[in-house]
Amino acid sequence: MSLHLTNITLTYPDGATRLTALDDVTLHVPAGTIAALVGPSGSGKSSLLAVAATLITPDTGRVVIAGTDTAEMTRAQLTTLRRTRIGTIFQQPNLLPSLTAAEQLQVMAHLDGRSPRAARARALELLDAVGLTGQADRRPHQLSGGQQQRINIARALMNDPAVLLVDEPTSALDHERGTAILDLITTLTHQQATATVLVTHDRSHLTAVDQIAEVNDGRLDSPALAGHR
Ligand SMILES: Nc1ncnc2c1ncn2[C@@H]1O[C@H](COP(=O)(O)OP(=O)(O)OP(=O)(O)O)[C@@H](O)[C@H]1O
Ligand SMILES: [Mg+2]
Repeated sequence: MSLHLTNITLTYPDGATRLTALDDVTLHVPAGTIAALVGPSGSGKSSLLAVAATLITPDTGRVVIAGTDTAEMTRAQLTTLRRTRIGTIFQQPNLLPSLTAAEQLQVMAHLDGRSPRAARARALELLDAVGLTGQADRRPHQLSGGQQQRINIARALMNDPAVLLVDEPTSALDHERGTAILDLITTLTHQQATATVLVTHDRSHLTAVDQIAEVNDGRLDSPALAGHR
């Protein structure tokens, strides 16, 4: 399942005029691959993820997720698409303080009407996959920042997304933990065949990705293939 962003232009209101956050951006991400977005602060990276997540409708351009043009979907269909096909991992884990690690994941399946037993089994499997075996019944305040971020990642995978959108997942972590998170995202991208877009400031992450796109002032410089592939 791939992600195609084609000729995306996005403006925000800015006083009497509008600010162009994305200027004719095209990015194609095949299934099972990672596209890295790099570029200075304010260049439009998070805006591009928000468009890919269908959280913001661009002024022009097409967002095609797993073969479906999102412009042709109703609001209700988009809500379902976001819940079932799109996994988002942002800088802050945004966990619910009162829920245990497993429950943070189970709530996703509950929204989707899956049986509690199946949801619990899947949650435990994913917590294992992110290295949190035995932590399922802990609440966020009993976990480290890195552990919370790994719950955030596991939660994003709960509904087998086709598209995984990741915005600087390691900025709150030390280098070693950050590398472990990146390895995890790479493995999961291959295993689950997600089309993954990763915003990162850490150049060391770029060796693991399939394409690198540089965002400058809302424009995407022609994506270059990572050297080792
Ligand atoms: N909701 C908004 N309303 C108005 N302007 C916005 C909004 N969100 C972002 N912008 C502006 O759009 C531009 C792109 O912002 P964006 O958040 O996409 O940058 P970024 O590349 O993610 O930056 P950073 O690396 O700091 O996270 C910036 O000039 C920003 O000020
Ligand atoms: Mg940003």
